[in-house]
Amino acid sequence: MPQWKILQPNAPDQWENYYQLRFSVLRKPWNQAPGTEHAIDDHAAFHGAIFGEDGKALAVARVSQISEQQAQIRFMAVDPKYQGKGLGKAVLKYVENLGLRNYPTITQFCLQARETAVPFYLSNNYRIQEKTFLLFDEIQHYLMVKDVHPETEDHPDN
Ligand SMILES: CC(C)(COP(=O)(O)OP(=O)(O)OC[C@H]1O[C@@H](n2cnc3c(N)ncnc32)[C@H](O)[C@@H]1OP(=O)(O)O)[C@@H](O)C(=O)NCCC(=O)NCCS
Repeated sequence: MPQWKILQPNAPDQWENYYQLRFSVLRKPWNQAPGTEHAIDDHAAFHGAIFGEDGKALAVARVSQISEQQAQIRFMAVDPKYQGKGLGKAVLKYVENLGLRNYPTITQFCLQARETAVPFYLSNNYRIQEKTFLLFDEIQHYLMVKDVHPETEDHPDN
């Protein structure tokens, strides 16, 4: 994918585009107010994004450590025009690798998957642990996990 750059957002315009994609994919369709795309602990997380040639974010995700053993993936979003082209898989792998490098004690990734995204995470070697909450009164979520096995081919570095 030579026309795409995958990186940790750094410059102000990259952050603006990062949050714009979060908002348009994960909040606006449910009439959520601007600002709700920000999380209070974003500063403590590691973020990944794929940017197009025009600088717009095409795919985003973040990872943060939530216990000694677990890191959580959150705010995964791909521009609808670019879904199904491998960008989600690429940015997920990128933030998993950031987690592995920065949180050496973790043994598992976890996430709350929207029902429509469950097949995507299954194809990325996550498994369903339990049905959890309804977001915005309508989006069913599932807790999904993936063990970190450095010695196997499931390791995100491979
Ligand atoms: C879910 C989402 C992040 C997936 O990203 P994507 O770029 O569309 O997915 P990819 O093209 O990288 O797909 C990777 C793999 O998942 C599979 N996959 C993706 N969506 C799928 C679906 N709805 N059903 C079945 N398989 C799916 C692909 O077939 C592919 O499998 P492969 O590697 O075996 O070929 C993206 O569609 C999205 O942003 N959706 C809306 C927001 C959302 O639900 N975010 C997640 C919140 S928990």
